[in-house]
Amino acid sequence: MIELMEVTKVYKGGVKAVDNLNFSVNSGELFGFIGPNGAGKTTTIKMMVGLLEPTSGSVKIDGYDVKTNPLDVKKRIAYVPDDPNVYEKLTGLEYLNFIADVYNVPSTVRKERMERLLNVFEMTSSVGSLIESYSHGMRQKIILIGALLHDPSVWILDEPMVGLDPRAAFELKTMMREHCEQGHTVFFSTHVLEVAEKLCDRIGIIDKGHLIACGTLDELRHGQQNESLEQLFLQLTDATAEGTESE
Ligand SMILES: Nc1ncnc2c1ncn2[C@@H]1O[C@H](COP(=O)(O)OP(=O)(O)OP(=O)(O)O)[C@@H](O)[C@H]1O
Ligand SMILES: [Mg+2]
Repeated sequence: MIELMEVTKVYKGGVKAVDNLNFSVNSGELFGFIGPNGAGKTTTIKMMVGLLEPTSGSVKIDGYDVKTNPLDVKKRIAYVPDDPNVYEKLTGLEYLNFIADVYNVPSTVRKERMERLLNVFEMTSSVGSLIESYSHGMRQKIILIGALLHDPSVWILDEPMVGLDPRAAFELKTMMREHCEQGHTVFFSTHVLEVAEKLCDRIGIIDKGHLIACGTLDELRHGQQNESLEQLFLQLTDATAEGTESE
C-alpha cells in the first residue's frame, strides 16, 4: 500500500513541482499515473522511494514512513527510474549479483529468480556482457530484473515500458497484473494512455503538480460511457491550461 499525505515539493529556485498530493494506492491495486511533461510524476515517484524529500507532507509504504523508516521502505519496494543509467563497467550478471548482495537475497533463491527473469526478458545470452554494450531497452530490462530480485511487495515504476520491445512490454504488463492479483501493489507512470486504460484498476492524472482526477476509468468518465482515456486526458488537462481547474 502507498499513502501520500499532503505531499508538496518545491525545488530550489522556487518551482512548485508537486502541490499538496493526497491519495492512496491499496494493496492488490494496479495504479497508473499519467500527466503532461513536467506535471510532477517523476518528482512524486522520487519522493515515494526516498530519493527526494518532500518540502512538506509525508509518504508511507505498507505503513512505513519513507522519511523515518527508510530501510523498511526500501526492503519493500522495487524502483525502476525513468532513466536507465546503470553501472556501465559491470556485466549484467555482476550488476544483478551486486543488487542481490545489497538486498541479502540468498544464493539459491537468487539463482532461481535470476534465471526466470533473464529468461522472461530474453537477456540470458547478454547477461555476461558489459552494460556499456547494452541498448536502451536492454538496460531497462536489466534494471527491471534487478529491481525484482528481492521479491518486493510494492512496485514503483517510472515509465517502465519506454524502450522495451513488444514482447518484453507484454511480459512486464502480465507480471504487473499477476503481482496485483497476489495482493501486492503496482504504481507506474506512463504516457501510453492505451496501456493505462487497459491495465489499471485506478488512474491518477496530475497536471502542474495538482492531482486533477483520480479513480477508475468509469469514475473518471463521470457517466460518459464511451469516452476513451485519451479524450478524458485531453479535456481535463486542457481545462486546467485554460485556468478553469475541474477537480
Ligand atoms: N532537480 C530539479 N530542479 C528544479 N526543478 C525541477 C527538477 N526536477 C524537475 N523539476 C521541475 O519540476 C517539474 C516537474 O518535473 P517532473 O520531472 O516531476 O515531471 P514529469 O511529470 O515526470 O514529466 P515527464 O512526463 O516529462 O517525465 C517541472 O517543472 C520540472 O522542470
Ligand atoms: Mg518524468
